[in-house]
Amino acid sequence: MELNNNRWSDEDFFAEREKVLSLWPTGKEIDLEEAVDYLKGLPPAKQYARLIVEAEKQGRTLVQPRGGVALIDDHIALLRCLQEKGGADLLPTTTDTYTRNLKFQDAQRGMEESRKAGRSMLNGCPIVNHGVQAVRRISESVERPIIVLSGTAFPQLTAETGFAGGMTAFLGAALSYTASYTKDLPFEQGIRNYQYLDRLTSFYEERGIRLHREQPGFLTGTLIPPGIGIAVAVLEMLMAAGQGVQHYSMGLCQSLNIIQDVAGLWALKEVGKEYLRRFNHENLFFSVATHEWMQAFPPDEPRAYAVIVLGGIIAALSGATQVITKSTHEAEGIPTKEANAEGIKATRMAIHLVRACRLPENPQVSQEKKMIMKEACSILDKALEMGDGDPVMASLRSLQSGVLDIPWAPNQFVAGKVIPVRDASGAIRYLNHANLPFEREILEYNREKIGEREHKTGKKIDYEEAIFDITEVSRMLGNE
Ligand code: 5AD
Repeated sequence: MELNNNRWSDEDFFAEREKVLSLWPTGKEIDLEEAVDYLKGLPPAKQYARLIVEAEKQGRTLVQPRGGVALIDDHIALLRCLQEKGGADLLPTTTDTYTRNLKFQDAQRGMEESRKAGRSMLNGCPIVNHGVQAVRRISESVERPIIVLSGTAFPQLTAETGFAGGMTAFLGAALSYTASYTKDLPFEQGIRNYQYLDRLTSFYEERGIRLHREQPGFLTGTLIPPGIGIAVAVLEMLMAAGQGVQHYSMGLCQSLNIIQDVAGLWALKEVGKEYLRRFNHENLFFSVATHEWMQAFPPDEPRAYAVIVLGGIIAALSGATQVITKSTHEAEGIPTKEANAEGIKATRMAIHLVRACRLPENPQVSQEKKMIMKEACSILDKALEMGDGDPVMASLRSLQSGVLDIPWAPNQFVAGKVIPVRDASGAIRYLNHANLPFEREILEYNREKIGEREHKTGKKIDYEEAIFDITEVSRMLGNE
């Protein structure tokens, strides 16, 4: 099958589906027509897409944690805690690493060991191993909609299981997750795998079931310049649209610079709209999500809370429709359900206190937004030109040439030459823009901003500083 942005035919989709379902015995239990009937019976409050549309209309920010444990009853207890103690608007089901890498045998062993140990021995919930009926038990035990969070380049069987099990949203996208979660996987394969998921989503859409697809935005969880984040997100949205997806959200990770973060989220919305218009996909609904700090966290509770609360403030000031939360256990590993719920609560309180305040549009914010949009559009336009207007070819060719580059990506097919660094105000700039197709205005702006930091600190900003910036927040010692 030729790889391009055309929607898969039924024939291609169902031929591939046979292979997907045969990956693990529970795959055979998935009957799409039966799943359509099941999803038709879900109450409106459990339809993810519906909540997002309502929140967008009302200008509200929905709070969405992550979370998953090995066994069904424990996972239900976790979700109930996030819902009741934390007040989460949207609930998660994070899968474990084995599931993300199609190592279902190992996931099975992890489940058995968890039963013996009386605690979760996996870093998420292996929903494929549990199978559709068990997943339905999860969705039926809570009152909110659930999103499957699976940091994977192989989402197909996990999505089949989650959707048929009553989970009405799925997070992940081809460029982000192939770049961040695989070392040797070619992007061609990652794109095909996500085309399957998006085609599956649109299979349901055609039968009146609107499912939500979410783009992850945080990429490698390091300092990601928003211009790059936006270019990736928009290409991924256009690829989802190619398979018939109707409901999408794009995300960006926070840098914790209020002005740049808010400007970035506003730029994301504008650039997204513009490219949907150019591709005649204006009927696709999309919203914007912000991810609380994705890098190394401070190890202690007070400073971790400062990062989390600032995350809620940024979400509210930008008017983002979703914020994805963190907990104070982030530096240590998987949070307890109580700590996870507290991260939600702190975020919600911050949003509540900001009330209807939005960051005022002043010259500084406008300048920042303009620059971010220019960066994103320069990458997108050059990529689309290289791909003869096809977003799939644009993604492949731009990544190969470094016209699209992702900082600190483990995948060997990413150029990995761009080096981000903070400026004097903490905003992310390009120390080295490598092969990104930026015009002089952008480069001069970046140089000027980095120059301000050099002037302020009296130090030359080089690779060492860029490395320092990656761990700075986790080390920021304040008065120690
Ligand atoms: N429970 C809660 N949070 C999790 N994360 C990953 N797995 C889990 C889990 N099982 C969160 C962590 C991580 C981010 C990518 O997702 O915060 O940094």
